[in-house]
Amino acid sequence: MDNFNFYSPTEFVFGKGREDECGEYVRKYGGSRVLIHYGGGSAVRSGLLGRVEQSLAKNGIYYCELGGVQPNPRDTLVYQGIDLCRKEQVDLILAVGGGSVIDSAKAIAAGTLYDGDFWDFYSGKHIEKALPIGVVLTIAAAGSEGSGDSVITKEDGLLKRGTGSDALRSKFSILDPELTQTLPPYQTACGATDIMAHVFERYFTNTREVEITDRLCEAVLITMVKETPRVIADPNNYEARANIMWAGMVAHNGIVGVGRSQDWNSHGLEHELSALYDCAHGAGLAVIMPAWMEFVYKHDVMRFCEMAVRVFGCQMNFEDPETTALEGIHRFRSFLHSIGMPINFAELGARPEDIPVMVEKLGLGDGKTWGFVRLSAEDVAEIYRIAVDATL
Ligand code: NZQ
Ligand code: ZN
Repeated sequence: MDNFNFYSPTEFVFGKGREDECGEYVRKYGGSRVLIHYGGGSAVRSGLLGRVEQSLAKNGIYYCELGGVQPNPRDTLVYQGIDLCRKEQVDLILAVGGGSVIDSAKAIAAGTLYDGDFWDFYSGKHIEKALPIGVVLTIAAAGSEGSGDSVITKEDGLLKRGTGSDALRSKFSILDPELTQTLPPYQTACGATDIMAHVFERYFTNTREVEITDRLCEAVLITMVKETPRVIADPNNYEARANIMWAGMVAHNGIVGVGRSQDWNSHGLEHELSALYDCAHGAGLAVIMPAWMEFVYKHDVMRFCEMAVRVFGCQMNFEDPETTALEGIHRFRSFLHSIGMPINFAELGARPEDIPVMVEKLGLGDGKTWGFVRLSAEDVAEIYRIAVDATL
């Protein structure tokens, strides 16, 4: 096991109706002038925004609002948010929504306290300070409620880029599984796929003797395989929603990845798809991740056999372990298909002729990525090509 620090300072507030306490938590973390940031309208339609406003008003907290965050959040709204926070002297940003809203709130939080262009932070500059943020989560997916990460798309050139800093970690995150019951099945499935991908990015490691995190990873994956079909069949299944919501946090606040090298190449390849086609991040991952697995499995066949046997219930073939590894990848892709996810370029709405553009935008040149298997530009192109024609 490698040396590590584990830092997850967020207060998680979990359960039915807990969003009605958001005013108390804003006060607890020093907020008196709040920006409520939200998305395209689901929080308005469900009545959630009204309840958040009531809770702030009850606690004597001034607030202003900025809605309209799109999935795959854009830099243009971030600039508006920074101007508004400065004008209104905002001292805490409350993100009411999913990963896109939270990531946009994080960008605004860092940008407000910075003299330069906030995009510097998405081009390699480290974030030292940010306004405090709080979260009321409405979709189990990105894990941004517990992570220090934020991903923003620059409209000019459609560049989707991430940044990470402990300064971006939410002070508190309210997780009410009931709020996720209004999600369309497709969004629920996209979220589930992203949660599983966050674990796989850590599960495929070159670090040996990390039994504790291996087993924690498997626990989250097994939970997702069991609970996702239950919420697709019955969107109001509170207990299944609750398990998925907590799994989404555990998958990405860092705890299942400590002390081990990680991969993240599937995320890198997927971000080019969602930048170009504005598809849901989880849907892009459903197309990319099994293709990535098929490309790299020979690097560590036994790790893929462990996934196959422990997570997807395959029988181990000791004579020919590669068949077990491939069976596990097949079962993963079948699972994704069964929950309504696309599994190839055509189903996602992606075009094979754009592969050179996506490879170019990754900017590898003659170099390679980091990760479980380091990928050259030609390797990346091959993974996209595998994804073009993938079938069950
Ligand atoms: O905008 P509204 O109207 O709210 O609709 C949203 C949106 O259309 C809808 N939705 C959310 N909660 C709902 C709901 N609809 C009905 N009922 C509810 N309760 O769902 C759609 C998707 O929302 P979004 O916030 O985009 O989803 P998600 O949480 O998957 O976030 C995706 C973004 O997060 C980034 C992705 O790249 C993508 O940009 N990621 C962020 C990470 C992080 N910060 O740590 C890590 C991830 O790997 C990921 O890259
Ligand atoms: Zn993700």
